Amino acid sequence: MIRICAVEDVPKGSAISADVGGTQVALVHGEDGQFYAVYDECSHAAVALSEGEVEGCTLECWLHGSRFDLRTGAPTGLPATEPVPVYPVEVRDGDIYLSVDGDGRPLPSNGVTR
Ligand code: FES
Repeated sequence: MIRICAVEDVPKGSAISADVGGTQVALVHGEDGQFYAVYDECSHAAVALSEGEVEGCTLECWLHGSRFDLRTGAPTGLPATEPVPVYPVEVRDGDIYLSVDGDGRPLPSNGVTR
């Protein structure tokens, strides 16, 4: 587990980008109050998802509007058809943590690798 940031660093309904062992991660505070982390690149083209809009527990790609379910990584609409990696988030004592492998890279929970 490594600490990414404090809970206050990610206001509800927003996303930030974090470098975790060389992997860009979009850390999202969903409108449901939960924190989520996904690989910070759309599966359709090389666009940072952290720059998109948070709606409910989805994150929208700003370029063509595909929306990704933050719980599964699956796109809920075209043009993206492939899921993005999802990383489990742990919130402890006001800080946000991700599980990492021996090289410090985040471990996806949905079986999708980049
Ligand atoms: S680049 Fe994200 S939907 Fe096209």
